[in-house]
Amino acid sequence: MIDIPRFLYGTAWKEDRTERLVKLALAEGFRGIDTANQRRHYYEAGAGAAIRAFPREELFLQTKYTYVEGQDSRLPYDPGADFPTQVRQSFERSLLNLGTDYVDSYILHGPRSRRGLSKGDEEVWRAMEALQREGRTRFIGVSNVTAEQVATLCSFAEVRPAFVQNRCFARMGWDRQTRAVCRREGITYQGFSLLTANVEELQSAVMARIAEKHGVSVTRVVFAFALQVGMVCLTGTSDPAHMRDDLAAVDLVLSPEEIETIETISSAA
Ligand SMILES: NC(=O)c1ccc[n+]([C@@H]2O[C@H](COP(=O)([O-])OP(=O)(O)OC[C@H]3O[C@@H](n4cnc5c(N)ncnc54)[C@H](OP(=O)(O)O)[C@@H]3O)[C@@H](O)[C@H]2O)c1
Repeated sequence: MIDIPRFLYGTAWKEDRTERLVKLALAEGFRGIDTANQRRHYYEAGAGAAIRAFPREELFLQTKYTYVEGQDSRLPYDPGADFPTQVRQSFERSLLNLGTDYVDSYILHGPRSRRGLSKGDEEVWRAMEALQREGRTRFIGVSNVTAEQVATLCSFAEVRPAFVQNRCFARMGWDRQTRAVCRREGITYQGFSLLTANVEELQSAVMARIAEKHGVSVTRVVFAFALQVGMVCLTGTSDPAHMRDDLAAVDLVLSPEEIETIETISSAA
């Protein structure tokens, strides 16, 4: 089976372009696909159509269970059912949408509230643990969480989270606190919105100087930084040239001084 890719191709907000863009991403070299059974933002069946002809064992497929509060009327489960049943129904529908009998990673899209974890979150996690034990997902993880929530989850998890997927703000030290908990607990951090959440920092003179020194784009520097500090990166670009540029970040080596400068760019910008 495929190792965890360093880049995941994100499929949010692509609607009926999903199939075409995922095929394009595969052709450009992406092997990790991130989606969700949340029709409001993702067209999971479009991602499934794109991968149908691709060897399954060469792909890393990640999808998510989303609470009803994050969904529109197109629900992938019975909203009146208890949480373990909702997780099962959502998961089975994801397998159908993706045309597979297992996923590589199954993610809780976000806890029920911004602070703490509820009894419902624990019930959902237990259902996800069962899916992992049954071999139906290789890994389980959680998204949109604080450092405290990750620590709490680790305190009761029987199957520990393999991934945390968060929006990564430079002004929060690139989510430094959550990354520190992940490092301590052996969790791989997945960063999204690395470009769109950090527009000001990307336009700074510091970034321009580093990019110019290496003769590459600022966006490539951001991804190279994120990869070098241990993140798995998400990109949802629709442009084949940007797909190539983003993937090329794997080969860009930044110096320890450059890494330190970018880590603290919010105060340096
Ligand atoms: N767990 C969650 O709650 C959650 C939330 C949001 C997103 N996600 C996941 O993360 C994925 C990525 O989302 P995102 O928020 O990071 O935004 P995104 O959809 O990846 O948007 C990135 C933006 O950066 C541009 N871009 C990318 N590479 C570029 C390059 N090399 N040069 C110039 N511009 C470039 C893109 O424009 P072009 O298209 O023109 O390249 C696009 O406007 C989503 O598809 C989804 O899978 C998860």
